[in-house]
Amino acid sequence: MIVHAQNLTKKFGETEVVRGINFHVKPGECFGILGPNGAGKTTTMRMIYCASPFTSGALTVFDLDVRRHPRQIKARLGVVPQDNNLDDDLRVIENLITYARYFGISGSEARRRAALLLDFVQLQDKTFERTPTLSGGMKRRLILARSLINHPQLLVLDEPTTGLDPQARRLVWQKLRSLKESGTTIVLTTHYMEDAEQVCDRVAIMDLGRIILTGNPVQLVGELVGTECHELEPAPGTDGMLDQRLSQAGVAFHKLGETYYIFPGSEIGGYKIDDVPHRRLLHRRATLEDLFLKLTGKELTKTDE
Ligand SMILES: Nc1ncnc2c1ncn2[C@@H]1O[C@H](COP(=O)(O)OP(=O)(O)O)[C@@H](O)[C@H]1O
Ligand SMILES: [Mg+2]
Repeated sequence: MIVHAQNLTKKFGETEVVRGINFHVKPGECFGILGPNGAGKTTTMRMIYCASPFTSGALTVFDLDVRRHPRQIKARLGVVPQDNNLDDDLRVIENLITYARYFGISGSEARRRAALLLDFVQLQDKTFERTPTLSGGMKRRLILARSLINHPQLLVLDEPTTGLDPQARRLVWQKLRSLKESGTTIVLTTHYMEDAEQVCDRVAIMDLGRIILTGNPVQLVGELVGTECHELEPAPGTDGMLDQRLSQAGVAFHKLGETYYIFPGSEIGGYKIDDVPHRRLLHRRATLEDLFLKLTGKELTKTDE
């Protein structure tokens, strides 16, 4: 097992923000921790990369206890923290070379690896730029490159793509997929559900310090939500009637603002959904977002912004 958490908790003062979670990460897989803001994702990641001690339970990385062997663990880890922490006084390549020193990598080897990694994240033409001139997406890619300087067996990424534009996001996800293909184990947090579905072999859905569900994202959605979601904004003044019909028919739904999210079934007690008087109606594929909504009655993404 690459990561193994058993009954893991974390308290800040009297407040327990991670409340007895259990999960494991297998060699070669990409494991995603998903959940709204404040769920405890960053706290969990920081415990994994030995930046924050846990309160109770057990946590091992590479079968080593994080409390007893942080140095050995960190030597084999790559970390992309939630907040960019590049050295603004250094040029792009110097950020990598300086970081390599923490791992005892020689100067010439560091320069060789740094050049290769800048190619890998497509920043080769920024090699001698000053870090503050980089865009948000470029900074994220530079931190990804930095996290790879010691050829880590496990990559830990806390919201690697949050705040990036779609093109920058795609590039990062593409790089993560290629790292996974070359055997790197990955643990990440994200609130981009579509991306998580595509990249993660398994996900844990976290809310209020607890893991409420773990599994393969496609299977979880298929089993617990179904294949389709109908988004329906009823015609003005028809909400009451629709509520009644949905409840009578025993159809699963959630209402957020004006919109009803209706899961499986194209009929509501004999009426076709298309025939319900509406202002807006969208049939689309069900997602992890819907799963979270169905389980908690809350939105996953929107609460995070
Ligand atoms: N250093 C800290 N001291 C006190 N409370 C903290 C600290 N760091 C995080 N928290 C609290 O722990 C909870 C979980 O935070 P976090 O792990 O950052 O969640 P997420 O990454 O899922 O948004 C939040 O309520 C946050 O306010
Ligand atoms: Mg966080």
